[in-house]
Amino acid sequence: MKIFVDTAKLSEIREAISWGIVDGITTNPSLIREAMEEERKRGNNTDLSSYLSEICRIAGRERPVSLEVISQDAERMVEEALFLYRKFNPIANNVVIKIPINTYTEEKKIDHEGLVAINQLEKRGIPTNVTLIMKPEQALLAAKAGATYVSPFVGRIDDHIRKKLGIKFNKGDYFDFELIQEIFKLRLEKHLEMATEERISDLYDEERTKELRCAGNDDGIVSGVECVKKIVNIFKKYNLRTKVIAASIRNSRQMRELAETGCDICTAPFSVIREMLRHPKTEEGVKKFHLDAIQAGYDALFK
Ligand code: E4P
Repeated sequence: MKIFVDTAKLSEIREAISWGIVDGITTNPSLIREAMEEERKRGNNTDLSSYLSEICRIAGRERPVSLEVISQDAERMVEEALFLYRKFNPIANNVVIKIPINTYTEEKKIDHEGLVAINQLEKRGIPTNVTLIMKPEQALLAAKAGATYVSPFVGRIDDHIRKKLGIKFNKGDYFDFELIQEIFKLRLEKHLEMATEERISDLYDEERTKELRCAGNDDGIVSGVECVKKIVNIFKKYNLRTKVIAASIRNSRQMRELAETGCDICTAPFSVIREMLRHPKTEEGVKKFHLDAIQAGYDALFK
């Protein structure tokens, strides 16, 4: 599995690359805004163009950098993609254009423009990373349209399910979707205990049955990790070339579960990558070995 770092902060990109574990970089307008605000606070009033150039340069030839378009109609998205690609790709030949799967909003009720843009860019040989994927059906359509990558948003899918259930959580909290599933399975089983042949159709139609069957999932998607698992399976079944980037990752345990799904890439904030490295027993071990090494006379040995 490849690891991308999900940040626009130059210091984080540099450090993650120096660790030797980073295969690419993903950005979005929110991450760029945050990073540039930080730069400004430090007195560095760089412009966006120079900033994006620097990200591409640091990433280098081996590591794709996702840069996002901001428009909502296909024509303008393609124009922006061509602009970004022509301006920044010559730096290190690593630019990938991020396109939202769906640009539907309350105000502008257009849902298919992303697909049209993906397809047009594919015909021009420009790689795309299709963003804001929340269900496998969207990933399948993006792949059909010619996406190079799809990015299911693991953390935001979990947030959506937790919010519907009224669960309070902090951004980095692990979502124990298996526990939620168990709870609702037990409730449903209890409700169906009275099922007899004659009552099956009644129970199937009952609101309470539907409510219990649909609780704790989003139209059959029980968590962000499970969504990625389904996308990986579908792509494998049909030999689709589109690569899966698990995105919107919130903690180290999600990274482990995502690695188990066989997804191609995980893009994680630098803080999550750091969390993958740490364990209290490792720290305890380091301290003890260090003290024992002094007692054993290693200092003199290495002098
Ligand atoms: C990745 O491509 C996205 O930009 C990112 O993972 C979104 O993460 P968030 O849901 O934590 O904002």
